[in-house]
Amino acid sequence: MNAPAGPRYLLGFDTDALTKRECDVLVVGSGIAGLVAALQASQFARVLLVTKGELSETNTWYAQGGIAGAVGETDSVELHLSDTLIVGQGLCEPDVVRAVVGEAGDALGELVSLGVAFDRSADGRVALAREGGHSLPRVLHSGDATGAEVQDTLSAIVRRSEAIELVEDAFLVDLLTENGRCVGALVLEAGATEPTAVWAGATVLATGGCGQVYRVTTNPLIATGDGVAAAWRAGAELADMEFVQFHPTALDSASSPKFLITEALRGDGAYLLDCNEERFMLGVHPLAELAPRDVVSREIEKVMVRCGRPNVWLDARHLGAEHLAERFPKIWETCLEAGFDLSRDLLPVAPAAHYMVGGVLVDINGRSTLRGLFASGEVTASGLHGANRLASNSLLEGLVFSRRIVRALELDRPQPHAAHITGAGAGGPAGEPAMARSDIERTMSTSVGMTRTHDGLDAACCELEGIAASLGNTGPTVEAMEARNMATVAALIACAAHHRQESRGTHFRSDHPVRDDDRWRVRLAWTRSADAPREIPVGVAPEAGAVAVGLE
Ligand code: SIN
Repeated sequence: MNAPAGPRYLLGFDTDALTKRECDVLVVGSGIAGLVAALQASQFARVLLVTKGELSETNTWYAQGGIAGAVGETDSVELHLSDTLIVGQGLCEPDVVRAVVGEAGDALGELVSLGVAFDRSADGRVALAREGGHSLPRVLHSGDATGAEVQDTLSAIVRRSEAIELVEDAFLVDLLTENGRCVGALVLEAGATEPTAVWAGATVLATGGCGQVYRVTTNPLIATGDGVAAAWRAGAELADMEFVQFHPTALDSASSPKFLITEALRGDGAYLLDCNEERFMLGVHPLAELAPRDVVSREIEKVMVRCGRPNVWLDARHLGAEHLAERFPKIWETCLEAGFDLSRDLLPVAPAAHYMVGGVLVDINGRSTLRGLFASGEVTASGLHGANRLASNSLLEGLVFSRRIVRALELDRPQPHAAHITGAGAGGPAGEPAMARSDIERTMSTSVGMTRTHDGLDAACCELEGIAASLGNTGPTVEAMEARNMATVAALIACAAHHRQESRGTHFRSDHPVRDDDRWRVRLAWTRSADAPREIPVGVAPEAGAVAVGLE
């Protein structure tokens, strides 16, 4: 099964004829990764921050649980490292994990100094929650709206900064490349009919994930994989695409995206019950309801089939109304609005696509394999997560990688230079983006979800190829470009899942149900110019990727 081809650029253009902008550092995306990169780079560089929607419409804003960091008295970097490696099922890059968890304390301290308010216990110490896969409480949080606290605090600072030029409602069309180097990007600004050419000395992608390729997801509507698809078209290497994390407990209601019920609620003692109101995680894993997410989600899937129901039940009744309303105010309110009193009612929950483990392959300093292009956060395959992400390691990843990128840029002091670049765009019919989008969601949910088979993936790859072909000439509308990006990323996920003939972490093949370290303890990296993936043994990927394209 080949990775998708397609045109180099989404649109036909000639940069000489376009409106231009120029900056030292272009940051695309405004979740924690983008905001931290922009704020830190603005200390020494002219920064342009472009974001697809409003500054705060990001995956970060929706994050409930918190940020993991070994800051507790009985915790250690070694323990956090060990939990991350166990959950990552043999595919984490140990050096990357050590670097990230080792920097967590400093990075979290910086957030606090910027004004992020984490909950504290009565003695004034930072309060720590427990989530799946963690051997002890380690998650710093702000009630059950940690992402919103981080997002709002950092967004306010960015808005006040005179050193950051901010452009909201600006869609990343493509990365501009010249002689194998990223020299900026094409962005479509609100109300424009043609893109703007942005010349940048360095470009930092922080565009988040692609949950929207699935019908049931916790991700907001903007999560359409635009950064991953643009990096792919520009020739950057992608990796770990087969690994998509499903969160076990999204509220089973009609809302779309699905409302997340944080794992911290199970960390506080809530149980999962089947249709006979019996706990089913006991005996499945020593951590029961706090087993790694892949284990819990798959068990829920089995129970739903056994019970013939679209959900299982979350039981938090024994935690009491007062505690629930105080510790989880957003969940408490949202559930009440949906007709559930958590202190009296069982809550219907089901797994939902939540997090893309794969993405743009980066080294330990966030450098992609395309010179001039850096990436941070969910858009990357950094090697931190392996085959499955440890809960609340994602905001940490964006935070730490953006700090590392900026440290590298401070040494490089990138300068923009204007080039003359033309692109042909795609030929063929314009297609119907809304129909394509719904076909992608159906195909991915049916055949590339939590349980996969060779035949299902075969069929999915063919269907996704057909959907991409049907889109042909994208046209300069955001809707059409999003659909094209979703088709590309969905095809890459399906293709990678087809290739990996084993089960590991979030990737479960019922026709190859066993983890096979002899054959598959390798990461799969894909580029547009190669037919087959590059297999990267664990422990050499970041350096090998960086050297392959030549660090400046
Ligand atoms: C949660 O609060 O359960 C989600 C946090 C995460 O995705 O790490």
